[in-house]
Amino acid sequence: MTIQVIKLNRPMARSRLSSRASIQVGFIALDWCRPQKMFQGPQGAPVLLDIYDHGEISLRRATRAIRLPARTILRPMPQKAVLITGAAGRIGTALRPLLRPTYRLRLADVRTPSEPGDDFVQADTSDLPAMQAACAGMDAVVHLAGNPNTAATWDELRVSNVDSTYCVFEAARRAGANKVILASTNHVMGFYNLEGAYPIRVDAPIRPDSLYGVSKAFGEALARYYSDAFEMSMICLRIGWFTPRDPTVRGLQSLWISARDLAQVIGLCIETPRRFGIYNATSNNSQGHWDLQATRDELGYAPQDDVSALNLAESGEYREDMPYVEPPAGVLRAQT
Ligand SMILES: NC(=O)c1ccc[n+]([C@@H]2O[C@H](COP(=O)([O-])OP(=O)(O)OC[C@H]3O[C@@H](n4cnc5c(N)ncnc54)[C@H](O)[C@@H]3O)[C@@H](O)[C@H]2O)c1
Repeated sequence: MTIQVIKLNRPMARSRLSSRASIQVGFIALDWCRPQKMFQGPQGAPVLLDIYDHGEISLRRATRAIRLPARTILRPMPQKAVLITGAAGRIGTALRPLLRPTYRLRLADVRTPSEPGDDFVQADTSDLPAMQAACAGMDAVVHLAGNPNTAATWDELRVSNVDSTYCVFEAARRAGANKVILASTNHVMGFYNLEGAYPIRVDAPIRPDSLYGVSKAFGEALARYYSDAFEMSMICLRIGWFTPRDPTVRGLQSLWISARDLAQVIGLCIETPRRFGIYNATSNNSQGHWDLQATRDELGYAPQDDVSALNLAESGEYREDMPYVEPPAGVLRAQT
């Protein structure tokens, strides 16, 4: 599929596109700092409108570059339907209000979400028929459901992270939802972090620091298989550290990702035509431990937040008590 890309800076998008532009659009949501929106161009061809904050590409040059005739009308793509598994959890709860303006959401979880409002299916992600029903009519699946405990035993991980990931990918395939985004984790690469071997790139060999990290590495391998064997678009995000509270644990701060940066990168994963990718997902933290180059280059990620700019020191809430990971914990807990 060929996608034409129009790049416009934000003031130009505001002044030209909303009024007498030679390119007219049905709507533009400027709610993300760098929104990328899909439109239908001539003959329904997809056009990706990429609005960014700086730069000098003129509308005329952009139009010429992609050979769109003057007065082309770009129509909004139909709103995509997105299933979020594990939607009642921390990340799902934070994402829902940020994704709802752009996507039609369906939620799946064993727990009922605290806020009602979206289409909700109470189901276990290891239940293949239930997942297939949940995926029906969806364009994309954001697979968050899972056990995020780095000290979990294999018994605790097998259903939530291994069987469930297979069931969700397979349900998406059977239901024709051709895109899945897997909430993977930095813990697939955790031994680099423990050794301070920075920056940690996504293309280095995996070094899981826990059975939890291993379970997510399985998910990444399964995603590659579904991408290669079934031509599905399978995108793995190695999420850093998301917390609904102030990120006051100093040892984890280089991993932090804000809700709006996470919503941005998940939106970019939903829109990307790429068939496969593994991407680090943190905010633009000044420590630079987690290399974001591929996320920026291949998805167009432009994170807005930096943990060092949060001025947390003055809140007096710094905590040192939460370790990044205790690598033997999951194995040793199973012995007791
Ligand atoms: N929060 C982070 O910092 C972080 C970092 C990296 C990766 N992740 C991954 O992102 C995902 C979401 O993380 P979170 O912090 O929101 O976790 P969370 O524990 O707050 O939420 C997980 C949700 O999944 C649901 N769930 C678990 N097993 C299920 C099953 N078998 N069927 C249906 N629902 C099930 C739970 O009920 C829960 O609502 C997880 O897969 C986690 O491994 C999280």
